[in-house]
This record gives sequence, structure tokens and C-alpha cells, in this order.
Amino acid sequence: RLLIIDFGSQVTQLIARRLRELNVFCEIHPYQKVTDAFLAEFRPRAVIFSGGPDSVVREGSPRPPKTVYELGVPILGICYGQQVMMQDLGGQVDGGKISGGGGTAEFGRAFVTPAGEPLSILQGWFAEGKEQVWMSHGDHVSKIAPGFEVFGTSPNAPYAVTADVERHFYAVQFHPEVHHTPNGKMLYENFVRAAGFKGDWTMGAYREEAIAKIREQVGDKKVICGLSGGVDSSVAAVLIHEAIGDQLTCVFVDHGLLRQNEADEVVTMFRDHYNIPLIHADESRLFLSNLEGVSDPETKRKIIGKLFIDVFQKYANEIDGAEFLAQGTLYPDVIESVSFSGGPSVTIKSHHNVGGLPEKMGLKLVEPLRELFKDEVRALGRELGLPDSFIGRHPFPGPGLAIRCPGEITGEKLEILRKADAVYIDQIRKHGLYDEIWQAFVAILPVRTVGVMGDGRTYDYACALRAVTSVDGMTADYYPFTHEFLGETATRIINEVQGINRCTYDITSKPPGTIEWE
Ligand code: XMP
Repeated sequence: RLLIIDFGSQVTQLIARRLRELNVFCEIHPYQKVTDAFLAEFRPRAVIFSGGPDSVVREGSPRPPKTVYELGVPILGICYGQQVMMQDLGGQVDGGKISGGGGTAEFGRAFVTPAGEPLSILQGWFAEGKEQVWMSHGDHVSKIAPGFEVFGTSPNAPYAVTADVERHFYAVQFHPEVHHTPNGKMLYENFVRAAGFKGDWTMGAYREEAIAKIREQVGDKKVICGLSGGVDSSVAAVLIHEAIGDQLTCVFVDHGLLRQNEADEVVTMFRDHYNIPLIHADESRLFLSNLEGVSDPETKRKIIGKLFIDVFQKYANEIDGAEFLAQGTLYPDVIESVSFSGGPSVTIKSHHNVGGLPEKMGLKLVEPLRELFKDEVRALGRELGLPDSFIGRHPFPGPGLAIRCPGEITGEKLEILRKADAVYIDQIRKHGLYDEIWQAFVAILPVRTVGVMGDGRTYDYACALRAVTSVDGMTADYYPFTHEFLGETATRIINEVQGINRCTYDITSKPPGTIEWE
């Protein structure tokens, strides 16, 4: 395994991405956690020091334990990590940030040119004489540590790439993990090859390891898993079931705000296809009656969130002797908490989550996806035999159709919405566009409009179609359907769905809009 010591850079996760793409298994750990004992236990085959926001010249700034340099394994220091390495090993760093060190701060694109002998980790670089890199630093190294030599320079960073070749210590001032260092991946590849990684880490291997870990953690105890029908909880459930069989029981809280046939599909797939003991908590009436007359978006979200937890708890309590709660927590959720930047931020929407549940119920957590990124969870799902059509599904929010039904929710509106949504998604699939779109859905608007169909007057609901492209849901743009597609889809919805007589397309990006309507 490769160890990434996190000093709090915003892009530490990207280092892990680059390495995983090279089929090298790595883990990110915050520097506070990396002690001598930790290193002895982890036994990394190579170590990377991430960047970070602090200044190494500040007393008490983050450091790795000194023993890391005695492990005899290759180390790569990036930006702040480079400066840490220089300072620790006898070089010198000047504090541009703190002492206002005069014009050495550098942010953005820069070009590195080679110096000295060719360096193994730069193999393949400089084909055109120089390489574009991304710099982001205030401090700079003013004297390199004994044993180090210079292998690359840039106008503002004379020590852009340095290395102690004998000890396999490499230090770079720029960020090779970001997109704006186009050949950064090559540098990582050379580094991991030098460290002896073959790049043979596969999902199959991960699956086996994960199963062994679950068995070890759980023993002969029982596990409860809240199944939402989404990819993460589903993959977690199937994996855990493979590990411990019927010691796992899934609880599927059906709040009645799901899409057409969704509840049936989930129940059939898990109960019949996978033979996983599943409690289908059909509580749609309870949810709908509590939502009656409520039209404020935040109130709706809070009602649903609270009921969800109550219902889950009620059903889970029926499972005798359960000691563990399984959750589909992903790696990004885990490492976000390490970030230094977690300042106060405004709540745009109260998110649906069950974070407080384990403590409330006195359960321990099983989180077999904690080390994976979203696309890796999908790959694991495929490995476990979940159908592609299921794995590739668009994200669906916890509060379900409630937030696609602005204003008051009624059973009638939900029915209309389900039908319209099914037609819309069918259209998107038929035109082969489903996988190009991050998320697509219909929102039913709280307004009736006048129309004419046949020779008669209609007075029905209007709806809005939404389709966006996005990488992570944080920002999004509307999908540029052709007018032909939009026209055809509107006609189909109005003809096939009774209760809708007008169709609009939402072309708001995020920001300023959000993806969901509420
Ligand atoms: P917004 O609407 O905030 O949504 O732009 C961003 C992404 O998050 C999904 N979403 C949720 N997911 N619980 C969830 O699990 C929620 O409460 C929730 N609200 C929004 C939304 O569908 C989109 O993918």
C-alpha cells in the first residue's frame, strides 16, 4: 500500500484518484494520525506528502514523524510536502506568506524546464523542451537539503523538481495531480514503478479483501442495512450479504415518494434475485399524511428526514440482537472531514441523512465502501453482478419526489408526476442520451394552465423537464437537447399523461439554480 499523508490541501483526493487510475492501492491519512506506531503498523511501500495551506516556517506547523525518512521507502513531497521535506532534512524555506517574502509566491500555470541529469520520475517529460505545471505556493525553498539535486526549474521556482536519488526522495513545488499539469500522471506512474508497485490492484482483489474485513469485524453478530434503492447502499448490501449471508437484514423505508415501479424493483431485486432478507417498510400513508398541507421546502425536508429515522428505527428494533448498522459511506464523505477549510457555510437545503442514527440506536458501523470513490463503487457493483442498468442510474435524492413537487404534495400530483417522469426517461433512453446526462427528471408545477385538446378546453398542471450535466452535483449545466427532442417529448407527455397540458424546459444552470427544484 501507498500512504498519502494529508497536510490539508484542497486537492489531496486527486492524488488518490491518479494512483487508483494506475491500479495502485493507496490511503489518505491526516498528518495528525500518522505517528511512529501508525507507520510501523501500516508499513507503506511508498509515501506521498500532500500539499497544505500552512507555512512550514510557522512554529508548530504540520509535520510527519521523523521516522518516515528512515523507512527506506520512496517519498514524494508535493508543494507544502516538498517544503516539509526540505526543512526536515536540513534545507531552508523562506516564508513568502508570513514575511511577505517579495515576489516569490506563484499561483497558476508555469513551465518547468529540465536541469541536470535526466530523473527517473520525469521519464517521458520534456518531449517539447518544457512541461506545463500548476503552481500554488506562497513560501519557497531557498536552500535544498544535503543530498538533493535540482532536476527541473521554472522562472519563479528554481527548485521546482529536486531529488535525493540515492534515497528515492523526490520533491516538487507544483501539483502534479491536477488537470493543469497535463503530464502529472506520468510523474506518478514513474514514482510508483520506482517504488515497485506493479499496478495490479483490481476490484476483484478489493472485493475479496472487503469480504474478509467484514467477516472479521462482524463475527457472528447481526447487521442491519438501510436500503434506499440507490447505488451506494445497494452495493454495500450485496457485498455484506456475500460476506455474512443471512446475518444481514435490509430495511427498505418506502416513503411513497419513489418513482414509478421503483419500490417493486428494489424489493424484487434484493429479495428474489439476491435472496437478501428484506423488510419492506411501506409507510407511504404515514409520510403523505404528515406532509398534508405543507408547502415550505425546508419544512417538507425536515418532516421527511425525521419520519425516515423514526420508521427506520421502529423496523430495525424488530430485528433481534443486531449490533451493527451498515452504511454506504464513500471515500469523499470520509476525507472531507479532514479538510482544513471547514468553516461555517450557509445551509441551502437540509440534506436527508441518517448520520446520527448509529449512536441513537447504540449500533456500531460497518462501512465497506469507505475507501472507494463513486466510480469505483460502480465498478465493484459490476464485479458483484449488479445489472449495468441499475449501476448507471441517475442520482435520486433522499426526500424523493417531494422536492420535485413544489408546493403542497398530494397523491394525485405524485401519480401524475410519476407518469410524466417515466415518459421523459423513456424518451431519453430511446434517444441514447441517458448516460450523457448526470440527472434528468420532471417537476410538477403548482399551477394549472388553460389548454385546448381536441375541441375541448383543458385546465391542467404544467410541468418542467430538467436535465443537467455535472461531474459531482456541485455545479451543473442544463443539457442541450435538440428542439426536435424537446418537441417530441412534450407532445408525448401531454398526450400520454392525463393531468398535464403544458410542458416547459428548465435551462437554469447551477449556480444560480440548484439541480432539484426544492
Ligand atoms: P441540488 O438540488 O442541491 O442537488 O443542486 C445536488 C445533488 O444532490 C441531490 N440531492 C440530495 N441527495 N439527499 C440526497 O441524498 C437530499 O436531501 C438531497 N437533496 C438533493 C440532488 O438530486 C442532486 O443530485
